[in-house]
Amino acid sequence: MSTEKIKVLIVDDIQQTRKDIARLLYFEEDLEVIGEAADAAEALQKIGGLSPDIVLMDINMPGMDGITATEHAGRLYPGVAVIIISIQGEAEYLKKAMVSGARDYLTKPLNSEEMAATIRNVYRSQKQRQIPAAAEKLSVLPPPPPPKEKPSGVLSVIFCGKGGLGKTTVSVNLAVALAQQLRPKVVLVDLDLSFGDVGVVLNLTEGKTIYDLLRENSPFTPEILGNYLLRHFSGIDILPAPLSPQDAEYISAGQVAGLLKALQEQYDYVIVDTPANFQEINLQVLELADEILMLLTRDIAAIKNTRTCLSIFDSLHLRGKIRFVLNRCEQNLGVEVPELEKSLGITVYHQLPGDDRTVPVSLNKGIPFMVSSPQAEISRSFRRLAGRLANGRSHVNSEEKQGRKLLLNRIFSL
Ligand SMILES: Nc1ncnc2c1ncn2[C@@H]1O[C@H](COP(=O)(O)OP(=O)(O)O)[C@@H](O)[C@H]1O
Ligand SMILES: [Mg+2]
Repeated sequence: MSTEKIKVLIVDDIQQTRKDIARLLYFEEDLEVIGEAADAAEALQKIGGLSPDIVLMDINMPGMDGITATEHAGRLYPGVAVIIISIQGEAEYLKKAMVSGARDYLTKPLNSEEMAATIRNVYRSQKQRQIPAAAEKLSVLPPPPPPKEKPSGVLSVIFCGKGGLGKTTVSVNLAVALAQQLRPKVVLVDLDLSFGDVGVVLNLTEGKTIYDLLRENSPFTPEILGNYLLRHFSGIDILPAPLSPQDAEYISAGQVAGLLKALQEQYDYVIVDTPANFQEINLQVLELADEILMLLTRDIAAIKNTRTCLSIFDSLHLRGKIRFVLNRCEQNLGVEVPELEKSLGITVYHQLPGDDRTVPVSLNKGIPFMVSSPQAEISRSFRRLAGRLANGRSHVNSEEKQGRKLLLNRIFSL
């Protein structure tokens, strides 16, 4: 086996496909197929054992799929380059594949010329990547900067595929509950860009909005953010949605991503209220989220909607970070909670009661019920939710942790 050749590992669950690929590459003198794997686990094992330069990875495999396998491969064996193979029409998947660390992709039906050219290209660029890395090891380049002291804040996204189930109510009151707990820095961002009503709910209809901030087109320094974020007396900072839906159209997913990352640098919690859709900005935000709080209720329409959303979350590989929150949990419309969990294949993380007195009163006053009615059962329930989410979070530095834990235990033994 000549070391000059580019070593290729073929990963596909169908034996015939593996054979076909090997056959297509057979006459390429500079390429050598050094092994095959029939699933992701075997692939990861063989990458370790055979050290291929290139892995041709089928996207759709039973068990762990090619995208997840690519992520693992990138973490375990940074020297290996993965090329994803998919069938036509999997554009959304392909985008995910590239995000997962794949270097390029090929679509079936495969032809030998395109495949060989792609392998060579990826191999060349992989070699170029490795040169600076190797130089760094030899300390030709300055050492990388030390890791930052403050871990970045938690990005919690409140989501529901249906409007009117309580996203804004939960976003606002959860943000306040978190701020009341441990005095972390909390910012609430209204990304329901067209119809966001966080500002209305909190009686903040005068100030600047996310639109003004992004239009400024400046780096998100603490000073700039300070000029635009509204300080609310409940202890949270707020970035409201644009005042007019037209303004929302000037905001891009890239801008939003940059903003959220900057906010995570400066806050312990970034809570995001969202619209009920899977459009580009929302997809971006869901992808960036550390946790997605997905709201549902016990009525049939909401359950049907949740099921549809879940299949989308599954195809985007986002299911792992969802926490299901049942709102108006006592509202029994014929579906018991265990039945709902079983039918959707989920576990409910937290149940929030309905309260048709406290909630409308708080809305009318423009004051979160966490502030106006701290003793109401719904407020207690939000405190428990905030406590569960906060407990064990690493942003609390370790000296403070013990004291805070005691405080938490006290607060949540309600
Ligand atoms: N747990 C609850 N108890 C009583 N009313 C609620 C509760 N959750 C939401 N609501 C009410 O339901 C309506 C829709 O809630 P909202 O938070 O605006 O939903 P979304 O942002 O998802 O559209 C609002 O009038 C809100 O006050
Ligand atoms: Mg809303």
